[in-house]
Amino acid sequence: LGLKLKLLESTPSTQEEVRKLAEKGAPHGTLVLAEEQTAGRGRQGRRWYSPPGKGIWMSLLLRPERQPLSIAPQLTLLVAVAVCRAIRKVAGVNAGIKWPNDILVSGRKLCGILVESVAEDELIRYAIAGIGIDVNLEERDIPQELKPVATSLSLASGRRIDRIALIGAVLNEMEQLYELYTQEGFGPVGHLWEALSVTLGREIAVHTPNGVLKGTATGLDSSGALLLLDQDGKHFTIFSGEVQLGG
Ligand code: BTN
Repeated sequence: LGLKLKLLESTPSTQEEVRKLAEKGAPHGTLVLAEEQTAGRGRQGRRWYSPPGKGIWMSLLLRPERQPLSIAPQLTLLVAVAVCRAIRKVAGVNAGIKWPNDILVSGRKLCGILVESVAEDELIRYAIAGIGIDVNLEERDIPQELKPVATSLSLASGRRIDRIALIGAVLNEMEQLYELYTQEGFGPVGHLWEALSVTLGREIAVHTPNGVLKGTATGLDSSGALLLLDQDGKHFTIFSGEVQLGG
């Protein structure tokens, strides 16, 4: 992974850069990194604040072989495991994953992941794994409205973090997990995700397009969806939504 690399000073979004390269036939593992994004995108149509020089804003092209679109959520969870492991190793912080793929330290988010799949006839043609890590942002770099919910690796660890070392660690972890996934399927990756999860066993509220569900997060199903048990003992399977910890 990352053998084909494009480095940019500034771009609207590295996701779009990778999409263009993918359409021109770029290989699996192609990586685009930008110092700054002017229109960084988050999940569910949100914006992703990507100021110059202090974060890692990157997108990685994945070309799974003959995989149905239904495995896309598994890829998302795989990327979260890889990034969480890399962050723990390089920064020595106790990072955890909030379903599906936010990385938190002490309840505050410092990394977001956006995996976009492009499919044809229900088969994945390619997927773009977008990773945004708030590495060396200082208190004053974080917009006021995000302060209660966001932090950075340097704030969480109390020291400056080498961005190159972290990018290397992310690629390393991704490579190993992707290999494990192609060899053995989602099972082992799912277990690693569960071990890093800050969602499982907790009371949560999930905001879905159809309303809010409250209950205890009990696990993942084989597709990567979140299982929830509500107060009346009813089971729910959640495919997309926004999790609020603490219910
Ligand atoms: C989220 O938590 O909402 C996901 C944020 C994903 C941000 C990354 S930064 C690199 C890539 N390019 C984008 O425009 N978004 C992703």
